[in-house]
Amino acid sequence: AKCCSKAVVFSVPSYACQRRTTLDNHNTILTDALSLLAEKAELSEEDGRGVAFRRAAAVLKCLPQPVTNMMQLRGLPCLGEHSFRVIKDILENGTSSEVESTQQSERYKALKVLTGIFGVGAKTADRWIRAGIHNLRQLQTSGQTLNQAQRAGLQHYDDLNLPVTKAEADAIGEIVEEAVVSVLPDAQITLIGGFRRGKLTGHDVDLLITHPDEGKEVGLMPKVVSWLQSKGFLLYQKTTINSYLESEEGPRRPSSNMDRFERCFSIFKLRHLSREDRGESESGCRLWRAVRVDLVVSPISQFAFALLGWTGSKLFERELRRWAGHEKAMSLGSHALYDNRQSRYLRATSEEEIFAHLGLEYIPPSERNA
Ligand code: GTP
Ligand code: MN
Ligand code: MN
Repeated sequence: AKCCSKAVVFSVPSYACQRRTTLDNHNTILTDALSLLAEKAELSEEDGRGVAFRRAAAVLKCLPQPVTNMMQLRGLPCLGEHSFRVIKDILENGTSSEVESTQQSERYKALKVLTGIFGVGAKTADRWIRAGIHNLRQLQTSGQTLNQAQRAGLQHYDDLNLPVTKAEADAIGEIVEEAVVSVLPDAQITLIGGFRRGKLTGHDVDLLITHPDEGKEVGLMPKVVSWLQSKGFLLYQKTTINSYLESEEGPRRPSSNMDRFERCFSIFKLRHLSREDRGESESGCRLWRAVRVDLVVSPISQFAFALLGWTGSKLFERELRRWAGHEKAMSLGSHALYDNRQSRYLRATSEEEIFAHLGLEYIPPSERNA
């Protein structure tokens, strides 16, 4: 049946990695609501439901205009019955009753506060809530044993829940560059994660380190960490070879047994930037703040895959892997791309080549904000 509404009807391909999603989101009211429901699902360890809400939000993020009418959503991919209901509720009533009741729920509030501690995931938070712990004060007096990451997380709770600015990310980048170059001249560092996608703030700073000569990067991480430690830049660090499966910070990620980079989860002590650098006046008298920093070392032969795999967004990465597997019979990881039909690895020295191998139009980092 033909639609009688004059409203614009959108057309969108179904994988997020086929779409250009900038930071210019015309539907933040809807996507904030769907993201909150995704987060609630992830915090309840309902990962399938979480991904469904993330996919629905991502479709709305790439629309060229605000949605004003349910008819405009006809034919859009990834919008299930539940997402439709939420969108309809907001378009008709201005708010979603499910979002409102979630925000008011004691369990959701407790999960948010507790998983806001670095080193605390949904499982731990749930265990604590079942023991009657709903806030930081109750946690501190509960006698629960915290691991080293969680103790650091609790100690720097306020700082770590304060957004990191691009200026702060650049300052951290310069410190890490000094460290890296002083232990291995010619090593290169690249800002990855959300800042590479053009975000102005983030929850951490992600940096990828490599060296133009294959093999020179081996054993680099411990040396960089020692240098940083000796200069007093680290409040906490955990260096691992494969932390991908065990990591409990943030929502769970699709597992990949191929992920074996040297990496370091850390908390930096960053001296406050001067007034001119920050473009604002001094407030308070603290001389430094804590910042979460993720460091990854990749051999040059895997650099393009590492760059693509660590630039995000998380949903964009997930969709790239799903596209590779379902549409191309390939396995994409942050180390390599394997073609299951040809039974061989496909080489690449740039992100552009990887997109080409996957039969996808190249999407630059600033348009991977799905
Ligand atoms: P903000 O930090 O909030 O700005 O968002 P972000 O997009 O930078 O997210 P985050 O720092 O959590 O992750 C950055 C990228 O690294 C994302 O694409 C993740 O998928 C990826 N990532 C995070 N942890 C791992 C991991 O353990 N292994 C791999 N392969 N990728 C990871
Ligand atoms: Mn990040
Ligand atoms: Mn990170």
